[in-house]
Amino acid sequence: MLTNHLLEGKKGIIFGALDEHSIAWKVAEKAYAEGARFVLSNAQIAVKKGDIFNLAEKTDAQIIPADITDIQELEQLFIKTMEIFDGKIDFILHSVGMSPNVRKQIHYTELNYNWYMKTLDVSAMSLHKVLATAKKLDAIKEWGSVVTLSYIGAVRQFSSYSDMSQAKAMLESIVRSFGYHYGVAKKVRVNAISQSPTKTAAGSGVKGFNSFYSYANCMSPLGNADADACADFCMTLFSDYSKMVTMQTIYHDGGYSNMGISDNLINNCFNCTGDCKE
Ligand SMILES: NC(=O)c1ccc[n+]([C@@H]2O[C@H](COP(=O)([O-])OP(=O)(O)OC[C@H]3O[C@@H](n4cnc5c(N)ncnc54)[C@H](O)[C@@H]3O)[C@@H](O)[C@H]2O)c1
Repeated sequence: MLTNHLLEGKKGIIFGALDEHSIAWKVAEKAYAEGARFVLSNAQIAVKKGDIFNLAEKTDAQIIPADITDIQELEQLFIKTMEIFDGKIDFILHSVGMSPNVRKQIHYTELNYNWYMKTLDVSAMSLHKVLATAKKLDAIKEWGSVVTLSYIGAVRQFSSYSDMSQAKAMLESIVRSFGYHYGVAKKVRVNAISQSPTKTAAGSGVKGFNSFYSYANCMSPLGNADADACADFCMTLFSDYSKMVTMQTIYHDGGYSNMGISDNLINNCFNCTGDCKE
């Protein structure tokens, strides 16, 4: 793996590595190669699945399980992490999302509201909880960097993305609001990466994911960004080379977000003549 020692000496917490396809998994591998050391955290049930132990071994990381919606567990996680590293940390990856409504393929017009709350709590409010806990414990160094993962469904309608659209909209709003307050108080940076459809457990759980994936791939001038490329981009946001970037949602999608229609779609991928509406 090509490395530039971009994160030499930096310490962090990486949330959300479930298996080798996870975006957080790739981020952990690259951050390790770039010289960072970190704690891996995930929900107890994901840790029980077991794959994360392979990642921990490869990256010389300790695993501290935490339900990211539980403030007490988050406090313990930050306290233990600061003990391990003998001080404050430099970066956090928040790579967590889950919707029971999406998983169970409930139609958007018939959402289960308890599950809706769960979606918002796990996928969006958890970022606020992580940031609030870190700020309260003064766990992040000045110019530290927090990165979360979003999707363009935050601002456009994707039919089966369902309540995750609201979760991502809320997530991006928390990036702006908390980014402001944490920036003023401690010069801590908070950004979201709005990532292409990516073949992971969370991604593939969305009904019609293959169409999301291939449509975006055909439309984007560069094609879809994969998890490896996303991890590369995370390295720059954790590094000191992006010090003045905060409160942003940055599209990492091969150009998809600024497209209308592409030659590729017209010539090769789109055969419908419009009769489907008649
Ligand atoms: N895969 C895609 O197409 C895609 C596209 C854009 C953005 N994203 C976002 O990227 C992030 C990472 O997802 P991924 O695609 O790598 O899939 P993934 O399934 O590998 O990762 C999701 C992680 O969230 C964790 N999680 C769920 N509930 C939790 C809880 N209560 N406490 C702690 N952790 C919990 C899971 O255990 C898992 O590790 C998510 O925010 C997702 O919405 C994914």
